[in-house]
Amino acid sequence: MDRNKETESEPRIYAYSRAASAALCHVVCVGFTAFIAVQSRPGSSLFSWHPFLMTLSFSLFMSEAILFFSPYGSPIRRFPHKTKGRFHWVLQCLCGSCAVLGMAAIYYNKNLNGKPHFTSWHGVLGLLTVCATGVQSLAAVPLIHHSLAKGWSLSKLKRYHAATGLVTHLLGSTSLLLGLGTAWFTTSVGGYAWYLSALCPVFTALVMMNQVTTAQMAKKRLQS
Ligand code: HEM
Ligand code: HEM
Repeated sequence: MDRNKETESEPRIYAYSRAASAALCHVVCVGFTAFIAVQSRPGSSLFSWHPFLMTLSFSLFMSEAILFFSPYGSPIRRFPHKTKGRFHWVLQCLCGSCAVLGMAAIYYNKNLNGKPHFTSWHGVLGLLTVCATGVQSLAAVPLIHHSLAKGWSLSKLKRYHAATGLVTHLLGSTSLLLGLGTAWFTTSVGGYAWYLSALCPVFTALVMMNQVTTAQMAKKRLQS
């Protein structure tokens, strides 16, 4: 189904504002990742890899992987849907790999310093996020090898995958937000800069929610 056709009857202002928010979302995802990279200076210590890899994973890779399907802001908008799917899963695999490495960095760093694990909301939600990312990725395999999910129609699988994917992205955004609340970040970034940083995962999550729910509603309207 060509989603662009679905939106043809919409007033132009909506299409323009959706295109503008998708474009801004790319800027925010890249800008926020670059900002955290500058703050953490990856390689300067074992800990430095944690904020860097987690931001790279959830702000850049996961968000960009979902944006590939955006009818307004996909960098590969004119490519066939199947190709978008391929780009999507490659980026989501990178996301999962970086998340595991980032998690290993903080876990090992805490072990070296004799600190207890998962003692903060950020730590607990972060663990849940990484687990959810793993489950979501494994559960997505039948989307490309349909024979693995007998008794499930492809459209049902896609619907569930999009809904749970949105929840996983939301978990990632919340973990990022809570990461910005840690003492490590708030001692070096405060005031307006902190609020501006916090706005980045919130804005990205809102754009994802809008994209996925709009796409699902359009599909439902076509089916009924
Ligand atoms: C979605 C992204 C993120 C996830 C999934 C995540 C996950 C985690 C987890 C699971 C821990 C606890 C590890 C343990 O106790 O062994 C942790 C700790 C920590 N993280 Fe993150 N993190 C993320 C992003 C960030 C960001 C962006 C920052 C900094 C700006 C950050 C800073 C910290 C700090 C300072 C700790 C140690 C203190 C604590 O345990 O609360 N994290 N993170
Ligand atoms: C944590 C990892 C993942 C998340 C959060 C995620 C999230 C999403 C979301 C939200 C969508 C819907 C996008 C939209 O309709 O606008 C989607 C679509 C899709 N995903 Fe994933 N995904 C993940 C991993 C994967 C993996 C590993 C694969 C392949 C093995 C995959 C294959 C697909 C495909 C083929 C679609 C298109 C479905 C359709 O035609 O409607 N995803 N994903």
